[in-house]
Amino acid sequence: MSDIRALLRADLGDFAGYRSARSEARDGEIWLNANESPWPSGADADGTCRRYPDPQPPALAAALADLYACAPEQILLGRGSDEAIDVLIRACCTPGDDAIVVTPPVFGMYAVSARLHGVRVIEVPLRDGARDFEADLACAAECAIEARAKIVFLCSPGNPAGGAIAGPDILGLARALEGRALVAVDEAYLEFADVPSLAPCVSAQSNLVVLRTLSKAHALAAARIGCAIADAELVAALRRCQAPYPVPAPCAAVALDALRPAALRNTRRRIAIVREERERVGAALAACARVRRVYPSSTNFLLVRFEDAAAVFAALLAERIVVRDMRALPQLGDALRITLGTRAQSDRLLDVLARRKLAA
Ligand SMILES: Cc1ncc(COP(=O)(O)O)c(C=O)c1O
Repeated sequence: MSDIRALLRADLGDFAGYRSARSEARDGEIWLNANESPWPSGADADGTCRRYPDPQPPALAAALADLYACAPEQILLGRGSDEAIDVLIRACCTPGDDAIVVTPPVFGMYAVSARLHGVRVIEVPLRDGARDFEADLACAAECAIEARAKIVFLCSPGNPAGGAIAGPDILGLARALEGRALVAVDEAYLEFADVPSLAPCVSAQSNLVVLRTLSKAHALAAARIGCAIADAELVAALRRCQAPYPVPAPCAAVALDALRPAALRNTRRRIAIVREERERVGAALAACARVRRVYPSSTNFLLVRFEDAAAVFAALLAERIVVRDMRALPQLGDALRITLGTRAQSDRLLDVLARRKLAA
């Protein structure tokens, strides 16, 4: 059995998945195989939506492979990286039997998907260090082996913690878990960081999975385009466990447009602005007397501890500024997560804090 097959659900060994009409026949002139309408909808002038879409639109897969420096067959396209997380758990973890490892405080969808699939969630908390939150990868490896966990989810750069985990450390963890578990690295915010992506490493490390999304730096959250980048054999297995048509044609089209050179140049400019704002707003907040701590960030948000986070949250809301309340998360009882907006938006936020004397 290949290393990859050993990581998939044993009961899905011979599972072929759903064979959609679209995936069975790719060449033809008169399409009478999928019970589609022969006429376009009046709401769909150019008829883009009349036919079922390609399950994995090849042009988009090729453009993303270019962007992420991997091969198209190493890409599983889906409805945001949220779907990739779900499909990974569905394909690898046997309900009622298997487990995943997560590192709270961290993005909630790993645990949510696991719960929905009847999969145990083992927590290896981040350590709140002198400078930053740090992942305890030695403990993650130990816990994964002891619990026979099938996937270790790492978020790098982390949401909400903000920091990135060193690539060589992640690769070390993947090597330690070879043949036993996948290491899935969620790089949703990687564009804002100084560290390189691990996507090019999936060829050499077959139990490494990298999650990427167009929802953040590429400004396409509503298009729901994300992907898992992994060993081609694993990607083929994940496709068998995915919904038949995960990428709506209009979403694929807008994503392709966002990956053209001029659009990418614009994206890079905006990333640079976010990084400048991160420094400026981070410094302004850190200088406030009632701010306890601003964590270093490799993302497009700041995690901030306040003396009175509840009052800050309410005051901002009263001025119609919505930030994310983190107080229910472990270790974050006094924290808010503030997305970096435009300079004018951040100025308004800082102004409210100063005027209401909540941070000054
Ligand atoms: C760390 C992380 N991963 C994944 C996602 C989900 O991204 P997508 O929009 O691609 O589903 C988010 C969204 O906030 C996130 O913060």
